[in-house]
Amino acid sequence: MLDKNTSLKPYNTFGIEVSTAYYARFDSVKNLKQLLHQKASLPLFILGGGSNILFTKDYNGIVLKNEILGFKTIEENSTSIVIEAGAGMNWHSFVLKCIDMNYGGVENLSLIPGNIGASPMQNIGAYGVEIKDVFEYLDAVHIETGKVKRFYKTDCAFGYRESVFKRNLKGEFIICHVAFRLSKNQHKLNTSYGAIESELQKMEITNPTIRDVSNAVISIRQSKLPDPQEIGNAGSFFKNPVVPQKTLQILLEKHPNIPHYDAPNNESKLAAGWLIEKAGWKGKTFEGRYGVHKKQALVLVNYKNAKGKEILSLSDQIIEDVANKFDVHLEREVNIL
Ligand code: FAD
Ligand code: EPU
Repeated sequence: MLDKNTSLKPYNTFGIEVSTAYYARFDSVKNLKQLLHQKASLPLFILGGGSNILFTKDYNGIVLKNEILGFKTIEENSTSIVIEAGAGMNWHSFVLKCIDMNYGGVENLSLIPGNIGASPMQNIGAYGVEIKDVFEYLDAVHIETGKVKRFYKTDCAFGYRESVFKRNLKGEFIICHVAFRLSKNQHKLNTSYGAIESELQKMEITNPTIRDVSNAVISIRQSKLPDPQEIGNAGSFFKNPVVPQKTLQILLEKHPNIPHYDAPNNESKLAAGWLIEKAGWKGKTFEGRYGVHKKQALVLVNYKNAKGKEILSLSDQIIEDVANKFDVHLEREVNIL
């Protein structure tokens, strides 16, 4: 059923008040196909948990909320298991369920908001792990023909917060199920990234389990990222910029302490949060309504009643200022609609 003139405020973690001309939810591929028959020529937007979107205006089309659930075993051997999950399942609930069943591989991705369906689209990542590391396949409905197509890892062109669904196939497919290959024993723990080791030490854990790693990640995240239930936000607003060695060398001459990490193709990844903080934006607020988070400069926040356009304009100013001060271009990570 299509609802008319629906507010999207409850459906985006930025908490922006915009409306959509039509809104509908689906909980099966069959329901989705029926809705696609009804859509006529209206534009269509697929919504998951709304945690990576900035709405800047009312939407003159149909917003379809993916609520397909499910968690089932596809295949299993002595060391690994393939679990297929419905695109509408909450990502963190999936992680916790895997941990409960002692399936390893997604513990570093604990507490990332949003749903299963967007996870391969965004190639979500945190604390040294990306979805591509555990991805097996996904099934997606082609909007134009209604046919289901299976995509394997090599079809997805995964990159840093990138996939084919954000590039060549943007707006063409609706992801309905995603399958992950997880370890059943001898889990390969990844504790080298960021503050995980020191957090485990604080917790007095010397021989960590996947649950310990998950708890450490949750604790680190809660200490710096704002909870969208309390302060509207969509996580990192910008990507960390990847620059050639030459650019890094020039920056290091002026700023010897600039954080930088190795990236593929002999390039380096810089910390956008550091650049934004050094440019003087961290903690700035505008009319007490929106601004740059005080603990993490990569996160733009809506304290109350901000408009999407105001936050977009703030991001433009930050991009321009960082370019002027460091000659580095910041790219937005959040989807703008
Ligand atoms: P939505 O915001 O609903 O959608 C995002 C995009 O995906 C849209 O373009 C939408 O059309 C498309 N889409 C959604 N579902 C489907 C589908 N089924 N089929 C086709 N297209 C679809 N991200 C990280 O990678 N790492 C982090 O550490 C991280 N931390 C965060 C912390 C906070 C506090 C917040 C608020 C966000 C954070 N994010 C992080 C960003 C966000 O959680 C992820 O991008 C997440 O995958 C978005 O999921 P979603 O279901 O909310 O997607
Ligand atoms: N930094 C600052 N000032 C700040 C923020 C960060 O100087 O205000 C510095 C830190 O001191 C550190 C470096 O920047 O040296 C990196 O900071 P942090 O470890 O907090 O991670 P990040 O690079 O800011 C990225 C992801 C996060 C992910 C974390 C952990 C991107 C765009 N962001 O943030 O993902 O959770 O690493 O892996 O890659 C998201 O995508 O929404 C997101 C939150």
